[in-house]
Amino acid sequence: MPTLAIVGAQWGDEAKGKMVDVLGAEADVVIRYSGGNNAGHTVITGDKEFKFQLIPAGILHPGTTAVIASGMVVCPKGLLEELDRTRALKPDLGTLKISNAAHVVFPYHRMLDALEEEARGENKIGTTSRGIGPAYQDKVARLGIRMGELIVPEIFEHRLREVLAYKNRLLIMFGSEPLEFDSLYAEFSGYASRLKSLVCDTEILAQEAVEAGKRVLFEGAQGTFLDLDSGTYPYVTSSHPVAGGACLGTGIGPRAIQSVLGVCKAYTTRVGAGPFPTELHDDVGERIRQQGQEYGTVTGRSRRCGWLDTVVLRQSCRLNSLSGLVLTRLDVLSGIPELRAATAYTLGADTIGHMPSNTWEFARVQPVYESLPGWSESLRKARSLDDLPREARQYLQFVEDQSKTPIAIVSIGPDRDETIVVRPDLIWG
Ligand code: GDP
Ligand code: IMO
Ligand code: MG
Repeated sequence: MPTLAIVGAQWGDEAKGKMVDVLGAEADVVIRYSGGNNAGHTVITGDKEFKFQLIPAGILHPGTTAVIASGMVVCPKGLLEELDRTRALKPDLGTLKISNAAHVVFPYHRMLDALEEEARGENKIGTTSRGIGPAYQDKVARLGIRMGELIVPEIFEHRLREVLAYKNRLLIMFGSEPLEFDSLYAEFSGYASRLKSLVCDTEILAQEAVEAGKRVLFEGAQGTFLDLDSGTYPYVTSSHPVAGGACLGTGIGPRAIQSVLGVCKAYTTRVGAGPFPTELHDDVGERIRQQGQEYGTVTGRSRRCGWLDTVVLRQSCRLNSLSGLVLTRLDVLSGIPELRAATAYTLGADTIGHMPSNTWEFARVQPVYESLPGWSESLRKARSLDDLPREARQYLQFVEDQSKTPIAIVSIGPDRDETIVVRPDLIWG
């Protein structure tokens, strides 16, 4: 059963997109299991740059089936634009399928995302304003409209009438203008007719692929600590980026996942609000931001940057049952003379080695740092561990020791070939 889940081990943007593209070359099916177009997964191939938001990054391999699974929320307009954009860059793509159980994101979700953020005042989450939270709220409230309903005109009409009447009451309560049924119905019926042929029962597709022994890659979005349950609530997204989400969001059981790789930057970034113990507010943080071009793929916001936090990493290893780590962006640390990484926290008078699950407590921890020597050389030409400077190898060893998890792959640049596979045995289980 060669199956692999790729998850973000931190707060997102760990370079999952690059790794899904690289490892997707060996996959028959690539299934994205959570989130919506709040994600931005960058893939660089030669002179082309792809920014995937809803489409699984594995679609660049023509023989692959790329699935938008039931755990996702889909903005149809965004998806169609993304399809056009991607096809314009590369006409020969894999086959796209969309789950009939994936939920549809409507304009009222986007409007409510903005209105809810405004109402939070100083306690804003800093969402991507794509309507993701409100769409998942509807799913939980059993009000959501699914792709399988959108594509059947009479069912869609009935459902939209029911839901819009409710949503308009909410919009009016927030002081906003209600939406008009006819134009919304016409607009979304247009999207439905373009997407209809792609919508199917992807749970069966996933289950049969696993049973047939095909190589199935589960593509995570966001990151472990943006998970609704395991993340720094309420500064989280509204879905389940952790490896367990791959089961819930696709319709396969837990024993069907053979290997789980956690993608982790060699340092830490976070976009939006929420505690971040190792955040840097100094020249080093700015240097990482500039050297790593740490600006959001979706919103263009400047990413908050800080040192690696191995307390966070250890928790991520447990939450996701990680088989191995993919350490990315090691190249960005070149030229920083002294590197630091948190190995524990102090909380009041105590020293602790874990993340407190109360976010208000996590917000009070102070990192206990260990220093490591940096290196000055560029790493981007390295193609084996032996090509790396001794200090970089020492850094990798430190990460393995602290996380008690082997490093399977090291990424030293955005291109496909800027990748060092250290433990091929950990990849497909
Ligand atoms: P994702 O959301 O996890 O897929 O990550 P993003 O695409 O949002 O952000 C990762 C960024 O890092 C992208 O711009 C990638 O092209 C880039 N990238 C990927 N791997 C590396 C690497 O090893 N080194 C550097 N410098 N950039 C990388
Ligand atoms: P990828 O897949 C980084 C963050 C937002 C905000 C919080 C909630 O590219 O790693 P939402 O719009 O989801 O309700 O926002 O989650 N966030 C991400 N941060 N990478 C992402 O995706 C993210 N998706 C959501 O910045 O703090
Ligand atoms: Mg991203």
